[in-house]
Amino acid sequence: MNLADGATSASQFTIDFEDMEKKINEKTKMLVINNPHNPTGKLFTRQELEKLAEIAKKHNLIVIADEVYEFHVWDKNDMVRFASLPGMYERTISIGSAGKAFSVTGWKLGWAVGPKQLLEPLKAIHQNCVFTCSSPTQMAIAEAFRLDWPKFLNDPKNSYLATGLSGELRGKRDKLAKMLEEGNFRPIIPDAGYFMLADYSHLKEGLKLASEADPDDFVFSRWLCREKKLAVIPPSAFYSSRAEKDKNSHMVRLCYFKKNETLDAAEVILKKLGKE
Ligand SMILES: Cc1ncc(COP(=O)(O)O)c(C=O)c1O
Repeated sequence: MNLADGATSASQFTIDFEDMEKKINEKTKMLVINNPHNPTGKLFTRQELEKLAEIAKKHNLIVIADEVYEFHVWDKNDMVRFASLPGMYERTISIGSAGKAFSVTGWKLGWAVGPKQLLEPLKAIHQNCVFTCSSPTQMAIAEAFRLDWPKFLNDPKNSYLATGLSGELRGKRDKLAKMLEEGNFRPIIPDAGYFMLADYSHLKEGLKLASEADPDDFVFSRWLCREKKLAVIPPSAFYSSRAEKDKNSHMVRLCYFKKNETLDAAEVILKKLGKE
């Protein structure tokens, strides 16, 4: 995805559909869409998803809709599930995560929803690769849904999935954005999810530490972690070619879904950094 210079919001990330379509050839079988998107924090608009649906139809592609952050959307932002678009259910496997939905990341439990003809082969692969998942966590997640789903449908103010989770996330997002500005970073405000990108390229330290061996964001992230005790992720890790890595190495990715004490400790570090 592309982000214009000076952008401040994840919604400003755009897909070059023409370029994307050029990469499709006779060997292409599948389109993988991640919405809301990690690491950018972008929530795709209905129009963007419709355009992807058009491409999937035109090239007869199966679609994996990785929607693990589907409940992590706040304000009146509209989370459009890809399979809900006209004609898309039949070609889409939608992926969800209990770990993300109920904030138990690490439980590694999720679900795949789709038509029989796509789920039958998926089940065969699951049987041979993953084989099973832990029954106690399955029971716990079933219970979590049993308790929350009626509220999700009828009493959203008291539902964790409808409002509790997103409310908590939104507060923490705003807190981290403010802290980053104090630290002299330029945050790209996400629409959804756990993560925020922040441009550090104007910081002296980042430039001073540039190395030929690793993309700049790796060097900067290592320095931030080792010297300042603040752990971030270098977003260039999400790209495969060196040219793409270098093009996307002026930011770091931070997670704001942390205990308040952790965010407070990060604030102290960022405030100090901002004054250096
Ligand atoms: C976009 C995306 N998809 C899938 C996953 C996997 O989720 P889980 O480990 O909860 O199954 C993650 C986890 O970070 C993610 O960010």
